[in-house]
Amino acid sequence: MNKLIKASILSIAMALLPLQFELKANDDVVVKHLGKDNIIFRDGSYIQNSLVHVAKPGNFLLLPVQDNSDEAKVKVLVNGKIDRTITVRLAKTKVDYLFPLDLRPYEGKDVVLNIEMNQNRSSMRDPGEEACWEKFAVVNQVDSSNIEKYRPLFHHTPLYGWMNDPNGMFYKDGRWHLYYQWNPYGSKWQNLSWGHSSSTDLVNWEHHPIALEPDGLGMIFSGSCAIDHNNTAGLGKDAVIAIYTSADLNQVQSFASSNDNGKTFEVFGANPIIATDTEARDPNFFFHEPTGKWILVLANALNHEMLIFSSPDMKNWTLESSFGKGLGAQNGVWECPDLFELPVNGTNEKKWMLICNLNPGGLYGGSGIQYFIGDFDGKTFTPDIDQNGKVPTKWLDFGKDNYAGVSWSDAPDNRRAYIGWMSNWQYAAEVPTKQYRSANTLPREISLFRHSDGQIYAATLPSPEILSIREKASQSLKDFTIGEKPRLISLPKENDGICEIVVDMDSHNNCDIVLELQNNKGDRTTMTYDPARHTFEVNRRHSGDTSFSVDFPAITSAPTFERDGKLGLRIFIDRSSIEVFDKNGKFAITTLVFPEVPYSTLAVSAAKGKGFINDLKVYPIKLSK
Ligand code: FRU
Repeated sequence: MNKLIKASILSIAMALLPLQFELKANDDVVVKHLGKDNIIFRDGSYIQNSLVHVAKPGNFLLLPVQDNSDEAKVKVLVNGKIDRTITVRLAKTKVDYLFPLDLRPYEGKDVVLNIEMNQNRSSMRDPGEEACWEKFAVVNQVDSSNIEKYRPLFHHTPLYGWMNDPNGMFYKDGRWHLYYQWNPYGSKWQNLSWGHSSSTDLVNWEHHPIALEPDGLGMIFSGSCAIDHNNTAGLGKDAVIAIYTSADLNQVQSFASSNDNGKTFEVFGANPIIATDTEARDPNFFFHEPTGKWILVLANALNHEMLIFSSPDMKNWTLESSFGKGLGAQNGVWECPDLFELPVNGTNEKKWMLICNLNPGGLYGGSGIQYFIGDFDGKTFTPDIDQNGKVPTKWLDFGKDNYAGVSWSDAPDNRRAYIGWMSNWQYAAEVPTKQYRSANTLPREISLFRHSDGQIYAATLPSPEILSIREKASQSLKDFTIGEKPRLISLPKENDGICEIVVDMDSHNNCDIVLELQNNKGDRTTMTYDPARHTFEVNRRHSGDTSFSVDFPAITSAPTFERDGKLGLRIFIDRSSIEVFDKNGKFAITTLVFPEVPYSTLAVSAAKGKGFINDLKVYPIKLSK
């Protein structure tokens, strides 16, 4: 048929059709809403199918997102073919923020979003009414400057979007690489990819393009990286190898390699390299010198155990053993393992430490990092037992907000530096930030010490680089007695009071010592050293906004390990987090807080007697870069 006739028949047919689609356009996109008759459900809900055609050239399409909207399925069609499918909370009633979809790879091609949006009974609207349609925009540059009052200064955060576990960290050529579970299209968990940042000093982080994106095997869940110094995989000496979980209907383990220091990865075509019959994830691997083999630990999540594999080349793995059934905290699921050897401070002894993150079932509910100390012979991990013949449960952090912690591979000077995700699955998706969610903990160095109970424990202290961001002390107080009436000490006025507080105190074993962070809105976080119980606790019940989750207001408490009534602490405050470290690292407590305005005062007092402060300093923290 002649083209002209065909076109005119088509336009007559279109005019005669009932309103099958509605057309709506702004300058940047053309939106078509398709009819709903075929996809209506019994309860009246239906799936609205709409098409968004990118009508203007540019580098990025901004997706209008509403944090609490339903998830829409978005197929990105490039010249009619599906390039990717993403899940986006497209705005229904108001736009909270705009997330960029990178159009640069599609230059000169037709890009259409084929969108399926649920219209359920509680939020049913006419398709044309959704807040998103008019707000799609094409831009050449993304403005990701911070708009959040709670964004920390010296902790790593993604520029925008949701972040959970740290992944695949390695050190190479003077750079600390940090990948993270990232949703580039919203601030709740979805579209899991590996975001990428790196730093030369563990403080100033540079943001890099996305490193691994969902593929045909699913989303890119957690995993690890190692450097192939001896070219055992045959992909080049010093290639960076990543092994991670591909998560779709099943969870399987996949392999990728990088020859540009982790900037881009080539995904192995014959993935998966490990498939088990139950939910297993978060492979963590390293080269084991004594056996000359690679070792990989995999969380057998629902069975609360870790599977240990070995391999000559990182692609072919043999199951050697499993560890953990019936041991330690057994609730929830076991996730994100890590296994490494460390010297015991002050001895010639070396021990292995196995980290088994778990969620829920953490010490104070939700997520937590437990670990075991023991021996590893290249096949089996054998845990130490206590005086009662039991395998003790140990915790790496006594707050609620340190999860999925794992360490850097190939760190210099035999350092065992690790970092955690500073949140908790109980409320991570509800905390009062939107542009980004959430931050990492401070990077910390792990060492081992033997306590008087005969057991070996892990000590953690902020990485030494963190000392370099101290400014000149704004407060320096020495030798004073404290009683019930609090002594008020100002926190730095500038820079939202971001600081490190260093305090040495002596309870003379006859009082509790209370350190309280306060602001003029009545928000307060109360920290109490109790020498009789040998505990240090952090109470955030009145710390600020706690309303977003019943699980957030909490008191968490750490054993102090001391017996002489004296305690030295380093306390880091960074807008929405408080991290307390024993000065020797014997305990750490990580706590999120959301005060209405920054804390401005530290109130120091003693209860049930008189206490003594030997030394108290407040160091403002600023970043020079
Ligand atoms: C831990 C975890 C991992 C998983 C990832 C998915 O927080 O559940 O087990 O790989 O998050 O984002």
